[in-house]
Amino acid sequence: MQSTFHVAIIMDGNGRWATERARNRTVGHRAGADAVRRVAEAAPDFGIGLLTLYAFSSDNWMRPRGEVETLMSLFERFLRSETARCVESGVRMNIIGRRDRLSPSLVRLIESSEAATRDCTALRLRIAIDYSARDAIVRAALRDETDFRASLTAAIHADAPIEDVDLLIRTGREKRLSDFLLFEAAYAELYFTDCLWPDFGRDELSAAVHEFNRRKRRFGRVESAAMEHGQCTT
Ligand code: FPP
Repeated sequence: MQSTFHVAIIMDGNGRWATERARNRTVGHRAGADAVRRVAEAAPDFGIGLLTLYAFSSDNWMRPRGEVETLMSLFERFLRSETARCVESGVRMNIIGRRDRLSPSLVRLIESSEAATRDCTALRLRIAIDYSARDAIVRAALRDETDFRASLTAAIHADAPIEDVDLLIRTGREKRLSDFLLFEAAYAELYFTDCLWPDFGRDELSAAVHEFNRRKRRFGRVESAAMEHGQCTT
Protein backbone atom coordinates (compact mmCIF):
# COMPACT_ATOMS: atom_id res chain seq x y z
CA MET A 1 0.00 0.00 0.00
CA GLN A 2 1.31 3.41 -0.96
CA SER A 3 1.26 5.80 1.99
CA THR A 4 2.64 9.02 0.50
CA PHE A 5 -0.08 11.41 -0.62
CA HIS A 6 1.05 12.22 -4.17
CA VAL A 7 -0.36 15.28 -5.88
CA ALA A 8 0.58 16.13 -9.46
CA ILE A 9 -0.23 19.42 -11.17
CA ILE A 10 -0.39 20.44 -14.81
CA MET A 11 0.36 24.14 -14.43
CA ASP A 12 -1.53 25.78 -17.28
CA GLY A 13 -2.55 29.33 -18.03
CA ASN A 14 0.57 31.47 -17.59
CA GLY A 15 0.26 32.90 -21.10
CA ARG A 16 -3.42 33.75 -20.80
CA TRP A 17 -2.87 35.26 -17.35
CA ALA A 18 -0.35 37.64 -18.90
CA THR A 19 -2.42 38.37 -22.00
CA GLU A 20 -5.44 39.24 -19.86
CA ARG A 21 -3.23 41.88 -18.22
CA ALA A 22 -1.88 43.12 -21.55
CA ARG A 23 1.59 41.86 -20.57
CA ASN A 24 3.87 39.55 -22.48
CA ARG A 25 3.98 35.83 -21.79
CA THR A 26 7.28 36.09 -19.91
CA VAL A 27 5.47 38.01 -17.18
CA GLY A 28 3.01 35.11 -16.91
CA HIS A 29 5.78 32.54 -16.62
CA ARG A 30 7.50 34.60 -13.91
CA ALA A 31 4.23 34.81 -11.99
CA GLY A 32 3.93 31.04 -12.53
CA ALA A 33 7.29 30.53 -10.83
CA ASP A 34 5.98 32.48 -7.80
CA ALA A 35 2.98 30.15 -7.70
CA VAL A 36 5.35 27.15 -7.67
CA ARG A 37 7.02 28.57 -4.53
CA ARG A 38 3.63 29.22 -2.85
CA VAL A 39 2.26 25.77 -3.58
CA ALA A 40 5.44 23.95 -2.52
CA GLU A 41 5.38 25.88 0.73
CA ALA A 42 1.72 25.03 1.40
CA ALA A 43 1.85 21.37 0.33
CA PRO A 44 3.07 19.77 3.59
CA ASP A 45 0.19 21.44 5.47
CA PHE A 46 -2.21 19.31 3.43
CA GLY A 47 -0.38 16.07 4.09
CA ILE A 48 1.20 16.06 0.65
CA GLY A 49 4.45 14.09 0.72
CA LEU A 50 5.17 14.16 -2.99
CA LEU A 51 4.32 17.02 -5.32
CA THR A 52 5.02 16.58 -9.03
CA LEU A 53 4.77 19.68 -11.22
CA TYR A 54 4.70 19.74 -15.02
CA ALA A 55 6.95 22.62 -16.00
CA PHE A 56 8.03 21.79 -19.57
CA SER A 57 6.76 19.01 -21.79
CA SER A 58 8.84 17.50 -24.56
CA ASP A 59 6.37 19.07 -26.99
CA ASN A 60 7.06 22.50 -25.50
CA TRP A 61 10.34 22.54 -27.51
CA MET A 62 8.08 23.48 -30.42
CA ARG A 63 7.22 26.85 -28.84
CA PRO A 64 8.92 29.98 -30.24
CA ARG A 65 12.64 29.97 -29.47
CA GLY A 66 12.44 33.09 -27.31
CA GLU A 67 9.79 31.54 -25.07
CA VAL A 68 11.79 28.31 -24.70
CA GLU A 69 14.87 30.35 -23.72
CA THR A 70 12.82 32.34 -21.22
CA LEU A 71 11.53 29.16 -19.60
CA MET A 72 14.98 27.54 -19.49
CA SER A 73 16.48 30.59 -17.83
CA LEU A 74 13.56 30.70 -15.37
CA PHE A 75 14.32 27.09 -14.42
CA GLU A 76 17.99 27.96 -13.91
CA ARG A 77 17.10 30.99 -11.84
CA PHE A 78 14.63 28.97 -9.79
CA LEU A 79 17.19 26.27 -8.99
CA ARG A 80 19.84 28.87 -8.15
CA SER A 81 17.57 30.88 -5.86
CA GLU A 82 15.49 28.11 -4.28
CA THR A 83 18.01 25.41 -3.40
CA ALA A 84 19.12 27.01 -0.14
CA ARG A 85 15.50 27.71 0.80
CA CYS A 86 14.61 24.09 0.04
CA VAL A 87 17.36 22.86 2.35
CA GLU A 88 16.07 25.20 5.07
CA SER A 89 12.46 24.07 4.71
CA GLY A 90 13.25 20.39 4.15
CA VAL A 91 12.25 20.12 0.49
CA ARG A 92 13.93 17.38 -1.50
CA MET A 93 14.14 18.35 -5.15
CA ASN A 94 14.14 16.00 -8.12
CA ILE A 95 13.91 17.05 -11.76
CA ILE A 96 12.31 14.35 -13.88
CA GLY A 97 12.43 13.98 -17.64
CA ARG A 98 15.16 13.79 -20.26
CA ARG A 99 18.44 15.54 -19.58
CA ASP A 100 20.27 14.99 -22.84
CA ARG A 101 18.60 17.98 -24.53
CA LEU A 102 19.03 20.42 -21.64
CA SER A 103 21.95 22.83 -21.53
CA PRO A 104 25.00 21.63 -19.58
CA SER A 105 24.58 24.58 -17.18
CA LEU A 106 20.99 23.57 -16.38
CA VAL A 107 22.02 19.93 -15.91
CA ARG A 108 24.79 21.02 -13.52
CA LEU A 109 22.28 23.07 -11.50
CA ILE A 110 19.84 20.16 -11.41
CA GLU A 111 22.53 17.81 -10.15
CA SER A 112 23.73 20.20 -7.49
CA SER A 113 20.18 21.01 -6.26
CA GLU A 114 19.38 17.33 -6.04
CA ALA A 115 22.61 16.61 -4.17
CA ALA A 116 22.12 19.53 -1.77
CA THR A 117 18.55 18.54 -0.89
CA ARG A 118 19.01 14.76 -0.87
CA ASP A 119 18.46 14.35 2.88
CA CYS A 120 15.40 16.62 3.14
CA THR A 121 12.21 14.95 4.29
CA ALA A 122 9.40 17.53 4.72
CA LEU A 123 8.33 17.36 1.06
CA ARG A 124 9.56 15.73 -2.12
CA LEU A 125 9.20 18.18 -4.98
CA ARG A 126 9.45 16.70 -8.47
CA ILE A 127 9.57 19.11 -11.35
CA ALA A 128 9.11 17.68 -14.83
CA ILE A 129 11.28 19.30 -17.51
CA ASP A 130 11.56 17.90 -21.05
CA TYR A 131 9.09 15.28 -19.88
CA SER A 132 6.90 13.05 -22.02
CA ALA A 133 5.14 10.12 -20.39
CA ARG A 134 4.87 8.24 -23.68
CA ASP A 135 8.55 8.73 -24.44
CA ALA A 136 9.45 7.55 -20.92
CA ILE A 137 7.25 4.46 -21.21
CA VAL A 138 8.73 3.54 -24.59
CA ARG A 139 12.32 4.03 -23.38
CA ALA A 140 11.59 2.03 -20.22
CA ALA A 141 10.09 -0.79 -22.29
CA LEU A 142 13.19 -0.93 -24.47
CA ARG A 143 15.49 -1.34 -21.46
CA ASP A 144 16.43 -4.92 -20.90
CA GLU A 145 15.23 -5.18 -17.31
CA THR A 146 12.64 -7.36 -15.64
CA ASP A 147 11.10 -4.70 -13.39
CA PHE A 148 9.22 -2.20 -15.55
CA ARG A 149 8.71 0.30 -12.71
CA ALA A 150 12.47 0.34 -12.11
CA SER A 151 13.07 0.93 -15.83
CA LEU A 152 10.57 3.80 -15.84
CA THR A 153 12.19 5.28 -12.74
CA ALA A 154 15.57 5.24 -14.47
CA ALA A 155 14.17 6.54 -17.76
CA ILE A 156 12.96 9.78 -16.11
CA HIS A 157 15.85 10.27 -13.66
CA ALA A 158 13.50 9.86 -10.69
CA ASP A 159 15.42 9.73 -7.42
CA ALA A 160 13.15 7.07 -5.92
CA PRO A 161 10.83 4.44 -7.42
CA ILE A 162 7.96 6.02 -9.34
CA GLU A 163 4.77 6.31 -7.31
CA ASP A 164 1.12 6.33 -8.27
CA VAL A 165 -0.54 9.72 -8.37
CA ASP A 166 -3.45 10.17 -5.96
CA LEU A 167 -4.71 13.54 -7.14
CA LEU A 168 -3.97 15.11 -10.51
CA ILE A 169 -4.83 18.80 -10.80
CA ARG A 170 -4.91 20.79 -14.03
CA THR A 171 -5.33 24.53 -13.92
CA GLY A 172 -6.23 26.85 -16.76
CA ARG A 173 -9.60 25.67 -18.04
CA GLU A 174 -8.39 22.78 -20.22
CA LYS A 175 -9.33 19.18 -19.49
CA ARG A 176 -6.63 16.89 -20.80
CA LEU A 177 -3.55 15.01 -19.60
CA SER A 178 -1.05 16.32 -22.17
CA ASP A 179 1.33 13.35 -21.92
CA PHE A 180 1.87 13.73 -18.15
CA LEU A 181 2.39 10.71 -15.85
CA LEU A 182 0.22 8.41 -17.99
CA PHE A 183 1.43 5.27 -16.19
CA GLU A 184 1.48 6.69 -12.64
CA ALA A 185 -1.94 8.34 -12.97
CA ALA A 186 -3.78 5.09 -13.72
CA TYR A 187 -6.00 5.56 -10.64
CA ALA A 188 -5.53 9.27 -10.02
CA GLU A 189 -8.50 11.39 -9.10
CA LEU A 190 -8.72 14.18 -11.68
CA TYR A 191 -9.44 17.77 -10.69
CA PHE A 192 -9.79 20.53 -13.25
CA THR A 193 -10.04 24.17 -12.29
CA ASP A 194 -10.60 27.35 -14.30
CA CYS A 195 -8.02 29.11 -12.12
CA LEU A 196 -5.01 30.16 -14.20
CA TRP A 197 -1.76 28.85 -12.74
CA PRO A 198 -0.31 32.21 -11.58
CA ASP A 199 -3.46 32.69 -9.43
CA PHE A 200 -3.15 29.24 -7.84
CA GLY A 201 -2.14 29.14 -4.19
CA ARG A 202 -2.95 27.71 -0.77
CA ASP A 203 -6.74 28.25 -1.03
CA GLU A 204 -7.00 26.61 -4.46
CA LEU A 205 -4.85 23.68 -3.28
CA SER A 206 -7.05 23.35 -0.24
CA ALA A 207 -10.19 23.23 -2.42
CA ALA A 208 -8.65 20.50 -4.60
CA VAL A 209 -7.61 18.37 -1.60
CA HIS A 210 -11.05 18.89 -0.06
CA GLU A 211 -12.69 17.63 -3.24
CA PHE A 212 -10.26 14.67 -3.33
CA ASN A 213 -11.29 13.68 0.18
CA ARG A 214 -14.94 13.61 -0.88
CA ARG A 215 -14.22 11.13 -3.68
CA LYS A 216 -14.73 7.42 -3.14
CA ARG A 217 -11.74 5.51 -4.50
CA ARG A 218 -12.44 1.89 -5.34
CA PHE A 219 -9.43 0.92 -7.48
CA GLY A 220 -11.65 -1.40 -9.50
CA ARG A 221 -12.87 -3.17 -6.38
CA VAL A 222 -16.16 -3.00 -4.52
CA GLU A 223 -16.27 -0.36 -1.79
CA SER A 224 -15.49 -2.45 1.33
CA ALA A 225 -12.35 -3.98 -0.24
CA ALA A 226 -11.23 -0.57 -1.49
CA MET A 227 -11.32 0.86 2.02
CA GLU A 228 -8.79 -1.78 3.08
CA HIS A 229 -6.57 -0.67 0.20
CA GLY A 230 -6.42 2.72 1.90
CA GLN A 231 -7.91 6.03 0.89
CA CYS A 232 -6.11 9.17 1.96
CA THR A 233 -8.13 11.04 4.54
CA THR A 234 -5.93 14.06 4.86
C1 FPP B 1 1.65 26.49 -19.26
O1 FPP B 1 1.09 27.75 -19.49
C2 FPP B 1 2.90 26.64 -18.58
C3 FPP B 1 4.11 26.26 -19.05
C4 FPP B 1 4.28 25.59 -20.35
C5 FPP B 1 5.32 26.50 -18.30
C6 FPP B 1 5.26 26.20 -16.84
C7 FPP B 1 6.23 27.06 -16.18
C8 FPP B 1 6.04 27.69 -14.99
C9 FPP B 1 4.88 27.45 -14.15
C10 FPP B 1 6.99 28.71 -14.50
C11 FPP B 1 8.32 28.27 -14.09
C12 FPP B 1 8.38 26.96 -13.38
C13 FPP B 1 9.35 26.66 -12.52
C14 FPP B 1 9.42 25.29 -11.97
C15 FPP B 1 10.32 27.63 -12.03
P1 FPP B 1 0.96 28.25 -20.98
O2 FPP B 1 2.17 29.05 -21.31
O3 FPP B 1 0.68 27.12 -21.90
O4 FPP B 1 -0.29 29.18 -20.83
P2 FPP B 1 -1.42 29.42 -21.90
O5 FPP B 1 -2.10 28.10 -22.17
O6 FPP B 1 -2.32 30.38 -21.21
O7 FPP B 1 -0.76 29.99 -23.12
